[in-house]
Parts: sequence; C-alpha cells; structure tokens
Amino acid sequence: MAVSSPNGQISVRVQLAPTGELTYAATYKGQPVVEPSGLGFSLSKPKAMLNRFTVVSVDSSRTDGRWKPVWGEVREIRNHYTEMAVLVQDRAGSGIQMRLRFRVFDDGVGFRYEFPQQPKLSHFVVADELTQFRLSGDHQTFWMPADFDTNEYLYNTTRLSEIKSAAAVARERDIALQSSLGPDHVQTPLLFKTDKGLYISLYEAAVRNYPIMYLHLDKATRTFSARLTPDAVGNKAYLQAPTQTPWRTLIVSDKATDILASKLILNLNEPSKIADPSWIKPQKFVGMWWEMHVGKANWPLAGGKHGANTANVKRYIDFAAKYGFDGVLVEGWNVGWEDWFGNWKEEVFDFVTPYPDYNIDSLTSYAQRKGVRLIMHHETSGSVTNYERRMDAAFGYMQQKGINTVKTGYVGRIIPRGEHHDGQWMNNHYERVAEKAAQYKIMVDSHESSHPTGLHRTYPNWMASEAARGSEFNNAPTLGITPEHTTILPFTRMLGGPMDFTPGLFHMRLNQFDPTRTTRVRTTLAKQLALYVTMYSPLQMAADLPENYEAHLDAFQFIRDVAVDWDDTRVLAAEPGDYVLMARKAKGKSDWFVGGITDENARTLTLDLAFLDPNQTYEATLYCDAPNADWDTNPEAYVIEKKTVTSVSKLSLVLARGGGVAIRIARK
Ligand code: NOJ
Ligand code: CA
Repeated sequence: MAVSSPNGQISVRVQLAPTGELTYAATYKGQPVVEPSGLGFSLSKPKAMLNRFTVVSVDSSRTDGRWKPVWGEVREIRNHYTEMAVLVQDRAGSGIQMRLRFRVFDDGVGFRYEFPQQPKLSHFVVADELTQFRLSGDHQTFWMPADFDTNEYLYNTTRLSEIKSAAAVARERDIALQSSLGPDHVQTPLLFKTDKGLYISLYEAAVRNYPIMYLHLDKATRTFSARLTPDAVGNKAYLQAPTQTPWRTLIVSDKATDILASKLILNLNEPSKIADPSWIKPQKFVGMWWEMHVGKANWPLAGGKHGANTANVKRYIDFAAKYGFDGVLVEGWNVGWEDWFGNWKEEVFDFVTPYPDYNIDSLTSYAQRKGVRLIMHHETSGSVTNYERRMDAAFGYMQQKGINTVKTGYVGRIIPRGEHHDGQWMNNHYERVAEKAAQYKIMVDSHESSHPTGLHRTYPNWMASEAARGSEFNNAPTLGITPEHTTILPFTRMLGGPMDFTPGLFHMRLNQFDPTRTTRVRTTLAKQLALYVTMYSPLQMAADLPENYEAHLDAFQFIRDVAVDWDDTRVLAAEPGDYVLMARKAKGKSDWFVGGITDENARTLTLDLAFLDPNQTYEATLYCDAPNADWDTNPEAYVIEKKTVTSVSKLSLVLARGGGVAIRIARK
C-alpha cells in the first residue's frame, strides 16, 4: 500500500507483516525520511493491545482546494494532497477496528488514527499510542527535554546519538527548569538535518481532546516512540468512538526555507468555527508589563510599587494613542497578587475585582476617547477549575467594559487535581476558553498553554500563545535567550502557530531600576526590530517602557510602521540555528517589510528585491546594526539609512554578532 504527494516527490508506504504488524515508511526524492516504523495502540479499558491487524479496506483520494485565513502570513492557502485511508482490524480477540489516514502533501506528511463508530468500542481509555519514528541516520537534531508542564527551554543542537537526559541538560545549561522525565525523552517539535542536507520537522497538528505527544528515543535503533502526557492518575486519554487522534506530521525539504513556508499544519486543522469573524483584528499593543519584570513596579498592591494604578496606566494609554497602538495590556490590575504563587490556593483571583487604586471605568472610557483599548489579563495561577467556574462572569465583565482581548496565564501547578499543562484535560480547557471567548467576541493570547498545533485556523480568535521561551526570559537568572534561539524558533515552535514573543526591547542592560541585576538582552537593537517580521504573530507587543522608546524615536518608527497582518510572505534565506531572512507584504497595502536576524556570528546576507512590483520605484528605510554594534559589547548602536530601490535591486546586509536588520519598503 503506497501513496505519493501530488508532485511525486514524497512517498509513504504502509506494510502489513505476515505476523500482522503494521508499519509505515516515508521518502523524499528517494531518500529516507522515516524508515519502516511501528503503528498501533494500547487500551487499558477495554484492555486491548492493538498491534496485530488484518487489513479490511484501503481507500485513496486526491484533494485540491484553496482557503483564506481570517488573518495570516499569506492571503490564501492551497490545500493539495493525496490521501490513503487503511481500515484495519485487531487480529487478537477484541475485533476493534481502526483507520490509519495518511495525507501526503508536496511539503510533507500527516497521518492519524481514527476509531470509527463500531459495536465493539464505545468509551475507552488509552494506555499508550504505539506510533514510532525510525530515523535513517545520526542526524543533527534540534531538541528540548520532555516536560509535562512547560516548553520554555532553550533548544539543544546535537547529533541524534548525543541527546541527553533532561536532568543533565538542565544542570549544564539552565538551572531554571528541571524536567522529571528520565533520559532520552524529548518534546516535539523536533527538527532534524541529515548529512545529505534534508530538513525534517517532526510535530503534531490539531491536538484536540487528546494529550500532547512527547517522544522516547532508543539510540540503538534511532527510533523515537510516541509517549502521551498522562493525567493526574496516569491515564493518557479518555475517548469515545467515533473519534480520532491528532495528526502526526513530517514536514520535509532539501531547502530550509521551504520548512518555514509550509502550511501543512494549518491544512490539517479544521476550518474556522467562527461564522462572522469581522470582530477579530490583528493588533499591536504596549503594556503595563515589562516594568514589573525589570523591577520598576510590581503586580501586588501591597509593597508600595503597584504598577497598575490609574495614573500609570493613563500614561500608557497616552503613549499608545500618541504612537498609534491598538491596545494597552494591564497586568496586576485585580485583587489577588499578594498571594498568587507558591501556595497553590484554589481561590486566588475572581477576575472581576480591581485593586482600589485602579479605576477601570474611568480608564476604559479615557482609552475609548483616545481610540485605544485596554487588554485584559487573567492570570489563573494554575487554579483552572476556579477559572472555569468564573469564566462567564469574567468575560461578561470584559464585555461590559468594552475590552475584547485577554491574555491568559497558567503559572505553576494545575490545581486542584494535579493535571499537567500538556494533558488531555488542559488541552480541552484551552479549547473551551477559545470557544467561550468567541461567544463573547473576545480574542485570546494564552501563556503557559501547551504548544500550538494549528488550532488558530479553527479558532481564529485564539490569536497567539507563548508556549516557548519568550523574550521575558532575557530577565531570568539563567542563560536567558541566546542569540541563536530566535533562529531556531521559526523551524520548531512557530510551525504550530503565532507566538506572543514580546519583542522590541531597546534597553539591553536590565539593571535600570535595580543595580544588582546582571540580566541582559542578548541581541542588538536592530535585531529586536527584525523580530517583528521573523517571529510571526497577529498580536505583537512593543514590550519596552515608554521612556526607553522615547530615547530612540527614530528606531521606534519601525515598530509603529510594521504591519501585523500579511498578504504574502517570502522566506528568502534561512538556516536553523544560524540566520533567517524574510519579506512580508502588508495586508491590503503595497508596503513590504523585511526582517533578517543572525545568531552569535556576524554575517552578510544578500537581499534580492525581485519580489517587488517591477513597475514601481520604492523607498527602503533600513534599520541596521551600526558598524561597531555587537550584542555583547555595543548592543544599542544602530544606523538608519534610506535608499531608492526597484525589483532589480540587490542589497548587501551586514549583520553584527547577535544582530539583525529591519527594512520598510514603501512606494515612492
Ligand atoms: C508569566 C507570563 O509569561 C508573563 O508574561 C506574565 O507577566 C507573568 N506570568 C504573570 O502573569
Ligand atoms: Ca549557530
């Protein structure tokens, strides 16, 4: 049984051994992507080991269509694949039937298990998913240790055979996070580069009503085996037929830029459930946020440094209005922050009671007069049943105040039951929040949620999530954010969906308000600008303080100008761990924006402007690293240049160590 991509370059072969074992293998231009690897399931209720089958039927089909995302990196997406669905039946006593559905696109493969309606299966409990991925060589691997509760790690780049235990990595690289899982367990997304130059991303799409998959590596056979995040009592998933698993995905190409341009994950998700999305709007925002992270202010009222007071938030509203931002995020506005972390209390926040020094009514009407909206913050402190009980009241309160975007947060242990952030129960919670928010016409930006798997197609009001090490880690007492981190994220975490990375830091030493701090941002200022283009999100924060922007208004202009919604995206050059260069065309406009970033090495990138309209002359404004800029010794040095360009221009862009370049290209 075999199926090939529409262009014939990717093939998947499914085989049934005489003993009944089912395997699949995938190739790209004849090279192995995944060698024959196992498929199957183990159920604990009813007890059944589904790993020996007979084939009942095989169906094939072809699909070619186009769809338009509500917002996105491109205006239109082609969904073009060939499909093979193999219905199998357990050869042992259970008689359970299962369908393996493979979709093979020109940019990769997705497959999932389906449990059709059948007399022998109703409710069931998953003990394990037996999917395997056997790699063909000792590839270079970009990986993070597995963890049921967080993905805020740095990536490691090693040979597959050198993947180490989570504990060892935590000790060596970063003492902030300690995974409890044993050796050789990694998270997805994983990225491989073979010695022949093939790039392979291993991830998952449409994780709904199911736990997040992580992987165990058997080094002797180079085989990764699926593992599922358990619930509080060790079960993996509670399902009812008919149902299906998420898609297991392999994005493949011999060009790194193709991996970044892939829309496979989105194509494997269900269309939007929101019939009228006219209220959903990409936004740029500022916030009462970074000043608390760097110690100028604090979340709780007690302690005398309460940041979210009426006068201070008014200052942010004025700043947002003056410079054309849509929103102002306000953290620390509500009662509860005195005791929000570490005591694992169930009742901390009610999401509707502001601190007495925060006059929300006067601020919302002030903001409205100035054409700005407040952005709500719901830190749940992991008390998720409490949040679910209060969600209607909390969203109703927002609606009443005219606030239509919420940043949610799940810091700490999930109480009361001890569920994991990545388990089935929490994945259902995140989806329920998106659904409920949509009923109230509210947009969501979730922090500490599980990694995104393309659900923003289904819930376009779920605009962004954190789900990786974001910019706030610049201020963590650890390795922080290494210069290469943002060159790996687009190849890994970002494949699943937009990230609220919060770029735009202009003041790189983070001891501005607390001289004892040694934390720092490990980029140049120009690279902070470039991240608005390379880190895709329809919600982009300008994270730094108003006073730090006012010290560099010329560079700040790029953040004011840059778009957050796009008609087109061109990935011009990229290598994971080294550099990324992208151009994007603003939605409904003729302006292009270019972002180029590098790791800890200086480098020169050539920008070929062939994507511009050949009949036009443009003015390019380049925000570049100054000749003496360097993330370590001189991070805030930049130069701004203007150049007249056309579609035949080629620009040579010089990036400093840890540097970048941001360009606005506008019609003359
Ligand atoms: C962690 C979030 O990522 C951060 O943005 C937020 O400020 C804190 N939690 C407090 O909720
Ligand atoms: Ca590198």
